[in-house]
Amino acid sequence: MKGMTNKKRILSGVQPTGDLHIGNWLGAISNWVALQEKHETFLCVVDLHAITTEYDPKQLSKNTLSTAALYVACGIDPKICSIFVQSQISAHSELCWILNCMTPINWMERMIQFKEKSVQQGNNVSIGLFDYPILMAADILLYDADYVPVGEDQKQHLELARDIAQQRINAKFSKVENILKIPQPIIMKKGSKIMSLNDGSKKMSKSDINEGSRINLLDTPEIITKKIKRAKSDSYMGMEFNNPERPESRNLLMIYSLLSGKEVSELENELSQTGWGTFKKIFTEQLIESLQPIQERYQVLINDPYELKKILFEGKEKAEAVANKTLSRVKSELGFFEMEK
Ligand code: TRP
Repeated sequence: MKGMTNKKRILSGVQPTGDLHIGNWLGAISNWVALQEKHETFLCVVDLHAITTEYDPKQLSKNTLSTAALYVACGIDPKICSIFVQSQISAHSELCWILNCMTPINWMERMIQFKEKSVQQGNNVSIGLFDYPILMAADILLYDADYVPVGEDQKQHLELARDIAQQRINAKFSKVENILKIPQPIIMKKGSKIMSLNDGSKKMSKSDINEGSRINLLDTPEIITKKIKRAKSDSYMGMEFNNPERPESRNLLMIYSLLSGKEVSELENELSQTGWGTFKKIFTEQLIESLQPIQERYQVLINDPYELKKILFEGKEKAEAVANKTLSRVKSELGFFEMEK
C-alpha cells in the first residue's frame, strides 16, 4: 500500500456510541473531509472503545453501521478513504495487549479523561476504561500513521501513543530501523470545542444524560427547533465572542460561523444589536439547512445496507493488510516465535 503512494497517511476514528452530534461533525469529521484528498486516509469506527463504559449490545452493531453511514453522509469519500470497523481487525486487540505489557502503570494514571470518566462512572469502572488510551495507541501505531487529526481533548492520548512507540518499543527493541512510526497530532482547533447547549463551559458530549445539550446529526427540524429554543442564553443584548461571562454566546457564534462559512468577527458586527430570540431563529434555520443534505445522503445509505457493507468490507481489506504487516513486524522484533523462520 505505502509503496503505491507518497501521500502522508492519516488515521482517525469516532466511537459508535449513540447518535453522532454536530460536535463530532464540526470537530472531527469535517476536518477529515478537508484532509482526505491530499492524504491516504484510514477512518475507523472504534467499536471496541464503545464497550469501555456501559452499552447496549442490541444497539452496538446498529450504531456501528450508522456511524459509518454518517462518515460518508458528511462527505468522506469511500473511493479514496478506507472506512472500517475496529473490531473486525483483530490486530488492534493484539497490539493493544503487547503495548499493555510495555506501558508503565504510572503513565496511565495521569490520563485526564480517565479520571473524568471514572468519576462519572462511580464504582463501575472497568479495566477497559483505564486501558482505553492504549487501545487508541494501537489503532494509530498499526497504520504507521503520519498524522492523527483529533480534538484538543485527545492530545494527551496522542502524546501517550508517541511515548509508548518511542520510549517503550523503538528505544528498547529496534535494531537497525525504528519498529514503529511516531505519529504527529493535527489538533483541530476550530470546531474541536463545540460546547453543550445547556452549559457553554462543558463540551458537547454523547454521554451527557441531557438530550437537549446537543444537536444530533439526525435530529428532525422540529427537534432542532425545540432544542435551540431551550438552549441556555443570558441576559445580554447582542451576540459576543470574547466576553468570558458569555460562554453560550461564544459557542453558538462559533457553531454558526462554521456552518455559514462566515468569520466570527463579521458575525459579531452583524449581530451586535441582535437579541437572543432573533439570533436563535436565524441559528435554527441555518442548522436545519446545513444538516438537510447530510440527512438525505444518510437515508439513501442506511436503506442500502448492501452498499454500506461493501464499503466496510473494502475498507477492512485495505486496512487489515496494513495492520497485519505492522503487527507481524512488531511481533518479530519483540522476539515472538515464528512458524516460518
Ligand atoms: N478516543 C477518540 C475520541 O474519543 C476516539 C479514537 C479511538 C481515536 N481511537 C482513535 C481517534 C485513534 C483518533 C485515532 O475522540
